[in-house]
Amino acid sequence: MKLIMLGAPGAGKGTQAKMIAEHYSIPHISTGDIFRANIKEGTELGKKAKEYMDQGALVPDELTCDLVMDRIAKDDCKNGFVLDGFPRTIPQAEALEKALDAAGQSMDYAVDVDVPDENIIGRMSGRRACLNCGATYHIVAIPPKQEGICDKCGEKLVQRDDDKEETVKNRLKVYHDQTQPLIQFYQDKDILRTVDGTRPMEEVFGAIQAILGA
Ligand code: AP5
Ligand code: MG
Ligand code: ZN
Repeated sequence: MKLIMLGAPGAGKGTQAKMIAEHYSIPHISTGDIFRANIKEGTELGKKAKEYMDQGALVPDELTCDLVMDRIAKDDCKNGFVLDGFPRTIPQAEALEKALDAAGQSMDYAVDVDVPDENIIGRMSGRRACLNCGATYHIVAIPPKQEGICDKCGEKLVQRDDDKEETVKNRLKVYHDQTQPLIQFYQDKDILRTVDGTRPMEEVFGAIQAILGA
């Protein structure tokens, strides 16, 4: 099963992608997580990506596309994968299509997790993340068992650098300008499916399962 998660920043793409990856035993590939891991390790890619991410802007396609194509060519992606945060521009979607085409493959679904802008700011300001294992929480909606501590690995939870209100506003603008056109792109290919992302996370997952089956 090859899936794309679409949706605004904070819509819950990552939350759902993790659940999907676990349930269907396929890798979860998040470009945001890959960039953050590179920033944490201080790599050249991380240094370049950080300049854009801190502004809420997109990392240029040339730094992003090859990275994803290399990743999905790996052995563990043979039975499928779930892409989270990629593609995010029409050129990225075209690059993905071209690479899969060349391998005689295609994406199965693009799932749009739909959440209105009004809900987004609150989600972002309450988000806490574990930089060690990638788990994500929300201080009100999905709190960890012990405040500030990751349930899964015991590491301290942090707020993401780009979750400041001003940066979130810019990320939303960038989303509407550059990423939202992908909804029509995948609608035209007949693989777009929309779920209501304002529901509790288990219900959103249920709606996704109903689409994917099993
Ligand atoms: P990325 O990491 O992809 O960030 P994003 O798209 O802005 O999305 P988020 O990760 O913020 O939100 P999410 O939808 O995953 O929501 P989550 O599940 O965490 O990208 C960051 C940056 O990297 C970009 O700005 C860009 O600079 C760069 N980048 C990445 N990919 C790129 C690309 N392809 N091209 C160019 N640049 C790229 O949930 C959010 C919060 O809500 C959490 O607290 C969660 O616990 C809570 N929550 C989730 N579901 C629910 C629910 N159902 N009810 C209540 N709360 C919920
Ligand atoms: Mg995410
Ligand atoms: Zn953790």
